[in-house]
Amino acid sequence: MEIGKPKLKVQLGSIQLKNPVMTASGTFGYGNEFTNYVNLHHLGGIVVKGISLLPRPGNPPPRIVETEGGMLNAIGLENVGVLAFINDKMPFLKEAGTEVIVNILGDTVDEYAEIANKLNNIKGISAIEVNISCPNVKKGGVAFGADPKMVSAVTRAVKDNTNLPVIMKLSPNVTDITATAMAAEQAGADAVSLINTLMAMAIDSETRRPRLANIIGGLSGPAIKPVALRMVWQVAKTVKIPVIGIGGIMNTEDALEFLIAGATAIEVGTANLINPAITGEIVQGISDYLSAHRLESVQEIIGSLITE
Ligand SMILES: Cc1cc2nc3c(=O)[nH]c(=O)nc-3n(C[C@H](O)[C@H](O)[C@H](O)COP(=O)(O)O)c2cc1C
Repeated sequence: MEIGKPKLKVQLGSIQLKNPVMTASGTFGYGNEFTNYVNLHHLGGIVVKGISLLPRPGNPPPRIVETEGGMLNAIGLENVGVLAFINDKMPFLKEAGTEVIVNILGDTVDEYAEIANKLNNIKGISAIEVNISCPNVKKGGVAFGADPKMVSAVTRAVKDNTNLPVIMKLSPNVTDITATAMAAEQAGADAVSLINTLMAMAIDSETRRPRLANIIGGLSGPAIKPVALRMVWQVAKTVKIPVIGIGGIMNTEDALEFLIAGATAIEVGTANLINPAITGEIVQGISDYLSAHRLESVQEIIGSLITE
């Protein structure tokens, strides 16, 4: 029997994605940089570079270094700030033909609330993704994402200031990621995405200096995939809200593994820096996999891990 083209649509809370493939924040700019490589309207969504209340210059160089199976970055969240984002970047993004998810960051709970408020009612934004891997300056610089109480506080502050769906992006730099996932869910998050980068460092033994000017940076790429898969599987079993899988997704097989582990959608990060066309190729790859397995819809593989 001949079956038609597989259905790729997925539901993330109140937003529908045409397929489960999105870009990860900080690795796809504001979308316009990639139009020579990817038809943006073929993607499930674009998650833009993290936006703060005021523009940030970021850290001094070197800010990126390659490691075995991945890379370290300490960009320092360089960005144009929320007002320039709305005025200069949104006109392009709202015509991109895909869901636009705005990643936000702050130094204090109030700052998250204020950015969310400024983005509310801006046409063309589908959801907010909240980066909580940044230090809370009022709490001695401990990352918001390291403490379930701070995760609750940020989630509530953002939810209270927006009508948009809120995705809390969890930090893997914790002992038990299900605790922060549950805190986000209980405080009203519409979805969680995970993982952000793992705190890491690299040293040049000849000079005995750190390879990053910031000394410490975030590890991403294939090296973190097994950690990310484990965390996505654990969180997907624990919460009822949708889970977005991120971490070392370099090709279709990697993306499928996250969907099978329980992710409703995925974000591709570091792979964009190696092959800027990769997200479009993964959309096609998932469709081909479903056809080859005679499956009608991507829904049939989400959370389909067999453990007995
Ligand atoms: C250069 C670079 C910049 C990033 N900037 C951000 C950011 O602004 N906000 C954020 O939440 N995550 C940021 N991330 C983390 C990615 O979105 C993603 O969570 C992480 O890299 C793991 O996925 P990957 O292994 O596919 O890259 C950045 C990652 C890289 C490599």
